[in-house]
Amino acid sequence: MHTLPSEGKVPERPARGAARPWGGAAGGAVRHGQGRGAERIAMTERLRALGLMSGTSLDGIDVALLETDGDGDVLRGPAMTFPYSAEVRRKLVTALADARLIRRREERPGRLAEIEDELTELAAAAVSAFLRRQGVARASLDVIGYHGQTVLHRSARGATGGGLTVQLGRGPLLAELTGVRVVYDLRAADMVAGGEGAPLVPVYHRALAAALPQRPLAVVNIGGVANVTWIGRDGNLIAFDTGPGNALIDDWMMRHTKVPCDTDGAAAARGRVDGGVLRMLLAHSYFGRPPPKSLDRGAFTLELLDGLAVDDGAATLTAFTVETIARARELMPEQPALWIVCGGGRRNRAIMSALAGRVENAVVPAEAAGFDGDAIEAEAWAYLAVRSLKGLPITFPGTTGAPAPTTGGLVAVAGM
Ligand SMILES: Nc1ncnc2c1ncn2[C@@H]1O[C@H](COP(=O)(O)OP(=O)(O)O)[C@@H](O)[C@H]1O
Ligand SMILES: [Mg+2]
Repeated sequence: MHTLPSEGKVPERPARGAARPWGGAAGGAVRHGQGRGAERIAMTERLRALGLMSGTSLDGIDVALLETDGDGDVLRGPAMTFPYSAEVRRKLVTALADARLIRRREERPGRLAEIEDELTELAAAAVSAFLRRQGVARASLDVIGYHGQTVLHRSARGATGGGLTVQLGRGPLLAELTGVRVVYDLRAADMVAGGEGAPLVPVYHRALAAALPQRPLAVVNIGGVANVTWIGRDGNLIAFDTGPGNALIDDWMMRHTKVPCDTDGAAAARGRVDGGVLRMLLAHSYFGRPPPKSLDRGAFTLELLDGLAVDDGAATLTAFTVETIARARELMPEQPALWIVCGGGRRNRAIMSALAGRVENAVVPAEAAGFDGDAIEAEAWAYLAVRSLKGLPITFPGTTGAPAPTTGGLVAVAGM
């Protein structure tokens, strides 16, 4: 029986990419010829996949290596984060504004086309640096799962109607630059089918959770936006964005201190929650809606906080994130026996301690469950790419509201 400590320690950043539960000798696994496109792959075949994720926090590119059959066989490899420079972050802030003008997915108004090329080149550079530093042979990779950088996510069920999700990143260019087959645009088919196009990670959360006895289990990812996956006793999934994660806190800290986050939650710990502002933030119609539902990074602004002192604003926004995660319980059929927290928000001690005080059962960082809380989303993109190649579903009625289990993703091969 697997038991979890009630409190786990989140390793410091520099430990990333160090020892991992990785069995395969670097570059020594079964080799598959490159240039394989959509030909049939045996369901039991284990593929070596690299996942690339850049979340709404705009902090960088996470890269993770995985060997998997796309089902229950998952061998986690090393992972690394390649932070964006301050200059790239500034461009991304411009990109978020330009993206508001997009009416059709393929449009790239303003500087978006240029930024998209640059981001794809950065992704290719991250792949090269990762392979070099981890001593992994490029030719040993079967596929790269490429998320790209989300700049717009509009729910089909939201106020504006008409779902639209846009990730900057050109799969075919990445395939050219890396020489590795790329699976990309994994959200589109779900949206076409009538789903939210998010979240996509739950099916990977369930694969990870297979090693743990607790049910129901909640896996909370606190990125720019926060999302939860509820895994029931029989493995059924309910997933949705709970509300903001770090993005509002980051924006607030950047505006007032020029530091891009509330490091370790120190400002929030010093500040006092403004109950009136918190109530107004919580009055947003999103929180009363039943799942499936997903949220754009820009759904909330900082206007309501005007006039608050820096620390009080941080405390209030932190309470907003925590309260909306805790209230997710009301949308679950049964209380989670355990909450596992991944994403950068688990490093924010103010978030973690407030959440632990707000829900009934244990709240632990991903590491306490044996996972890498910085890498789960990148690992998920590797996992989803393999599922995509095998034609397996990646979204479900309980996760995105797709009417039926749905696969997705496009395949790009160098020289196509
Ligand atoms: N030590 C820390 N203290 C507080 N917040 C942190 C810390 N480290 C990371 N974060 C937060 O985590 C965010 C990155 O989380 P991440 O999971 O990468 O989000 P995303 O998936 O949206 O990119 C940062 O923007 C920051 O807000
Ligand atoms: Mg990130």
